[in-house]
Amino acid sequence: MSVTFLANPAQLRDWRAALPPAATIGFVPTMGYLHTGHASLVRRAAAECDLAIASIFVNPSQFDRADDLAAYPRDLDRDRALLEAAGCRAVFVPEAADIYRPGHQTWVVPGDIASPLEGASRPGHFRGVATVVLKLFNLVQPTRAYFGQKDAQQVAVIRTMVRDLDVPVEIVPCPTVREPDGLAMSSRNSYLTPTERAAAPVVYRALEAARTAFEAGEREAETLRAIMRDVVATEPLARLDYASIADAFTLAELHGTELQRAEPDRAEPDRAESGAVASIAVFLGHARLIDNLLLPAPTASAVPARH
Ligand code: PAF
Repeated sequence: MSVTFLANPAQLRDWRAALPPAATIGFVPTMGYLHTGHASLVRRAAAECDLAIASIFVNPSQFDRADDLAAYPRDLDRDRALLEAAGCRAVFVPEAADIYRPGHQTWVVPGDIASPLEGASRPGHFRGVATVVLKLFNLVQPTRAYFGQKDAQQVAVIRTMVRDLDVPVEIVPCPTVREPDGLAMSSRNSYLTPTERAAAPVVYRALEAARTAFEAGEREAETLRAIMRDVVATEPLARLDYASIADAFTLAELHGTELQRAEPDRAEPDRAESGAVASIAVFLGHARLIDNLLLPAPTASAVPARH
């Protein structure tokens, strides 16, 4: 079945109105230049819901630099083919003027969860993400929305927004899809030259080194951060932005042996899904790569829920 192309909110509304009222809708918001990671989100949405819809919108308000926005890769024909192969029924591809009409002045401003890590490195980023995601939710009215765990802070910001603003959408975090050498799939990997691509697995190696040390009993958060920094330092092309060991719920940095309490305590329901998240951002040429993993590795959901 081919993918229905919805070029503006009016077409989306008509398409939406023609669906059976009880149909469950799985939504995958994207900025396009899709890869296997996006395909896995669409396949899961199609499997778990009556139908899957994706959006492709390079959201200007989440970019803190105009050159970054202008350079963002685009390939609509390839995206449509990938969506169709993954079982997507429709794709919403609005223009910026459809989403930010003249006089737009209302924003969703996330709280503390958006301050550290990506929020600190990219001021205003999550205000743009939260605003566009809420607008897309209002337009698409999905039952569930699927997000990659690679952007762990984005998932946390969106879950918090949905909870705080009573948005009737279930957020489904999905595992990071990796290349065989461990590099997390990302549209931004296309910025890498062949030499930088060969160096890029250092990002995941750094996370794995922290996990290995954690599994061997290391509980000093600063030691784990230093382990990640040291691995990145072995790669001359890489420049570290941040290496973080943070509480998986609040994303606040952990200090000393606070990591002790990141160990799950199955006997205590409140602590049963506790954990810490190791995350990292690395510049490699024109690309800025981010990745993360939970300590310890979760058994079920990739991102703990706290409600
Ligand atoms: O993860 C992305 O691609 C974007 O941040 C999103 C969620 C589509 C919002 O523009």
